[in-house]
Amino acid sequence: MEIKHICCIGAGYVGGPTMAVLAQKCPHLRITIVDANPEKIQAWNSDDLQNLPVFEPGLADIIQKVRGKNLFFSTDIDKSIQEADTLFISVNTPTKTYGKGKGMAADLKFVELCVRKIAEVSKDRKIVIEKSTIPVKTASLIKTILEQSDSKVEFHVLSNPEFLAEGTAVENLVNPDRVLIGGESMEAIEALSKVYENWIPKEKIITTNLWSSELSKLVANAFLAQRVSSINAISELCEATGANIAEVAKAVGSDSRIGPKFLNASVGFGGSCFQKDLLNLVYIARSYNLDAVADYWEQVLIINNHQKKRFADQIVKKLYNTLADKKIGVLGWAFKKDTNDTRESPAIYVSHDLLNEQAVLQIFDPKVKKQRIYEDLESLTDKDYDLNTQVQVFQDPYEALHEVHAIAVLTEWEEFKELDWEKIYKNMRKPAFIFDGRRLLTDKNLQDLGFKYYVIGGE
Ligand code: NAD
Ligand code: UDX
Repeated sequence: MEIKHICCIGAGYVGGPTMAVLAQKCPHLRITIVDANPEKIQAWNSDDLQNLPVFEPGLADIIQKVRGKNLFFSTDIDKSIQEADTLFISVNTPTKTYGKGKGMAADLKFVELCVRKIAEVSKDRKIVIEKSTIPVKTASLIKTILEQSDSKVEFHVLSNPEFLAEGTAVENLVNPDRVLIGGESMEAIEALSKVYENWIPKEKIITTNLWSSELSKLVANAFLAQRVSSINAISELCEATGANIAEVAKAVGSDSRIGPKFLNASVGFGGSCFQKDLLNLVYIARSYNLDAVADYWEQVLIINNHQKKRFADQIVKKLYNTLADKKIGVLGWAFKKDTNDTRESPAIYVSHDLLNEQAVLQIFDPKVKKQRIYEDLESLTDKDYDLNTQVQVFQDPYEALHEVHAIAVLTEWEEFKELDWEKIYKNMRKPAFIFDGRRLLTDKNLQDLGFKYYVIGGE
């Protein structure tokens, strides 16, 4: 079994970068990425490399090199599936918004649609790879659908979860900590392993059974999210006691058993994965009647929601308990720096709370488009505000911060550090407040410039 021709279904934050790096590292492979959304495919095929559907440092350069050579973007899903020997399913698996498991379980409708399509159109043997993050045991559902199809084609199902983090996707794909492949067919596992061995040392490729692989992905995200909630819980205690969270994180993280990474206190974690995968883990645990396990992991989310809420509450409290008609400059909308992704961004929820207090928001993000910001806010319920009069999005940070009463730093974009803070101070209403939800500006001596500076986790 040898992999020569790949079709990846789903041209999103995982499918796009993953296949671009694969194409670059394996020039002998032919890779087609397909998507049900024709506008997305058009944007991936566009000459305007600055406006690809996914912004990731280094990605546009790779796309420029491999696109049209061994990487192709297409809307012809049936043909691309038929031509390939190996299929990656990289579609979205969001939290269900309806029916059984609403608000908790992963919605597998997109995965199932892909599998049914594969079953319907395949004419010869295929390796079918779960790249999407899915609940443990999903491979059995996939196998059942494939095996019961009329085609009588031989299918080998593998789990190969993706561990890239947005903003560092290219770096993570080029030099991953590990690659995980779960499956039953040794032949198929070896064929996929051979592909990765083109640039990844064999000892970094872990092989397991299907269920361990599927579950490990959820658990990895749960552990990472748990670290953020752990440090964020302590950030509140630091603020109450006069300790400093950066000093505590350094002291604690210096223990080699704990390690220094992923201990940055923040306004809360966001992104399309942590919350979704934790909810899914909690749902799975409950479905096996493991309530103590479910309660334990649910707490990670409870702390995260508390962190976002208490940050907004601080702003209200410090601004004399009223935000009505006060202007707040919002710096950053993406869920972290170096991405244009805003899914579950804490900025959305903090802004929602401020708007409900009748604040007027002036927002700037270097990579997020105006329309996205409005759509994010529109998607929320319990809105006691008018987006048209209370929200303005700017393309220039100085304009966004002009004459505001306070600034909320909600994404850790490096460029915010380089702003002319003296000039910003001069143009603000006084007293001029900064609420730093990312500990981004701690070494800027903003108090010396006259600011009232509040930072998550204490100074
Ligand atoms: P995304 O929403 O950015 O992309 C998914 C794409 O799949 C969309 O473009 C959508 O149009 C397409 N699609 C959906 N159903 C389809 C169908 N039936 N046929 C063809 N195309 C279809 O999602 P994403 O962020 O790339 O995540 C994909 C999966 O990878 C999820 O399961 C996610 O949990 C997992 N994951 C994401 C990340 C991340 O950082 N975003 C990291 C690791 C794993
Ligand atoms: C995460 C996992 O890291 C990745 O392995 C998985 O494949 C997908 O989910 P991602 O969500 O893209 O990746 O970014 P990540 O760097 O994990 O950050 C998630 C959120 O946690 C962001 O909002 C980030 O700002 C926040 N965070 C992260 C902190 O608040 N503090 C930290 O120390 C680290």
